[in-house]
Amino acid sequence: MSVAKKEYKRVTVKSLVEMKRNGEKISMLTAYDYTMAKILDNANIDVLLVGDSASNVMAGHETTVPITLNEMIYHAGSVVRAIQRCLVVVDLPFGSYQSDPKEALRSAIRILKESGAHSVKLEGGKEIKDSIKRILNAGIPVMGHLGLTPQSIYKFGTYTVRAKEDEEAEKLKKDAKLLEKLGCFAIVLEKVPAKLAQEVAESLTIPVIGIGAGSGVDGQVLVTHDMLGMTHEFNPRFLRRYLNLYDDMTKAFENYITDVKSVDFPNDDEQY
Ligand code: KIV
Repeated sequence: MSVAKKEYKRVTVKSLVEMKRNGEKISMLTAYDYTMAKILDNANIDVLLVGDSASNVMAGHETTVPITLNEMIYHAGSVVRAIQRCLVVVDLPFGSYQSDPKEALRSAIRILKESGAHSVKLEGGKEIKDSIKRILNAGIPVMGHLGLTPQSIYKFGTYTVRAKEDEEAEKLKKDAKLLEKLGCFAIVLEKVPAKLAQEVAESLTIPVIGIGAGSGVDGQVLVTHDMLGMTHEFNPRFLRRYLNLYDDMTKAFENYITDVKSVDFPNDDEQY
């Protein structure tokens, strides 16, 4: 049974703010390719994130740091060609926006022009405010990302829960307010205590979309390959697996190999 509301023929950044105002939770998942994006869009997902988690999931890197702007544009273009309804947000990858606002704008423009995506996401608060302003001034919608920001993994050292201490929680609250004031249309809050996330969501008019941030926020995002159970190694507490595709796919591949080896496949009906 589908519980997705269908009244949005096309989800825009304005629709998301409206959903928050109406108390409708926002559904967001990642996509990096055409086939998956088509299934997700047909299922009425509100937002598809072409996340730099493609660096881990698609390319097998240990972190999100190595993925390039060209690679993000390739993934984003594949997703955009598949969708009709959802909003597409694309991560600006590490190194494409941190050095100066002009470079950040150039990177964001390349994403929109070359992939057809609708908006970009940047990790960080006050430190990158000039870049965010510059991109917004060019008419490009920006989603913020606070809490655990995986592009800074070498600064944090671990992927553990952020903002448990007062000082970091205060900075996060200030950064969230700043992102709203600058004009961001939404914020992703990753791996922070649920109580803090709820407080932030209640203090803002723009939606807060959580991953490992509890149920008191305005929407949820997960990495699609994780929620489908295609990945094995990653087992954070916040992850709910809706399928166990790793095992199901392994079985299917094993059956195929057996059928080929035994000349059971193709049978008479499967040939010309
Ligand atoms: O890259 C990504 O998939 C993300 C989500 C985890 C929010 O940024």
